Amino acid sequence: MTDGKKKLWSVLAAAALAFSISACTPSDSENRQASEPASSAASEAGNTNTSDSASEEQEAGNAQTGDSNILIAYFTAAENSGVDAVSSASYTTIDGQAVGRVQAVADMIQKNTGGDLFSIRTETVYPADGGELIDYAAQEQEEDARPVLTSHIENLDQYDTIFIGYPNWWADLPQALYSFFDEYDFSGKTIIPFNVHNGSRFSRTIQTIQDLEPDATVIEDGFTVSERNVDQADSDVADWLEDLGY
Ligand SMILES: Cc1cc2nc3c(=O)[nH]c(=O)nc-3n(C[C@H](O)[C@H](O)[C@H](O)COP(=O)(O)O)c2cc1C
Repeated sequence: MTDGKKKLWSVLAAAALAFSISACTPSDSENRQASEPASSAASEAGNTNTSDSASEEQEAGNAQTGDSNILIAYFTAAENSGVDAVSSASYTTIDGQAVGRVQAVADMIQKNTGGDLFSIRTETVYPADGGELIDYAAQEQEEDARPVLTSHIENLDQYDTIFIGYPNWWADLPQALYSFFDEYDFSGKTIIPFNVHNGSRFSRTIQTIQDLEPDATVIEDGFTVSERNVDQADSDVADWLEDLGY
């Protein structure tokens, strides 16, 4: 993205994030798999998280041990921002529950496919404030950073198909996804991307995933949804999955 485009997107995004925060009606996110963010006391926004209890919580993203051959891996700032739902810019409300937007789509895919959910967790605690997150992520991208991951897939052999979900960050994958693709070799497996955006859809990310995992089959017909429409995406997700044969 050029600097001019970045600036324009940043202004639009700041307005949209302010709207998202005010429109959100947060509530408890109990009973959710792999969804507890790190404690807010753990560190300040953007710091590396070294607290034992917080890293235990961030490790909670490990895959469920079902017998499905489908894994639904996703990254959302909401589960890596070290605050509860009240303070995060990254939540939407589904059935009265505050969840990260990408996580909400992952849940819809899970309901339709019965796959195992896996939350990609980072040692980095991302800023909960939307404006700070935008700058922080730009800096990470500039440095081509590889955030340390604290959740790991223990049983990759079990899975033939990996749905991978992420937000569009600066027309690219969040850097945590680069760490994720560095960690795993998905050769011979099918990767099905899904994402949430604020106007840029996938940008070039599907091609990037194929470049990072050259021996995987990456489905180009991924599912993409605007951050404003996540709470109404159920039937679109079901139709898309049906077209893919699920
Ligand atoms: C750091 C950052 C950069 C973003 N860059 C873009 C972008 O380039 N294009 C776009 O359409 N949306 C962009 N967005 C909007 C996100 O894709 C969108 O808010 C998404 O819902 C975030 O998912 P999450 O709430 O599950 O974390 C950006 C958001 C953030 C926080």
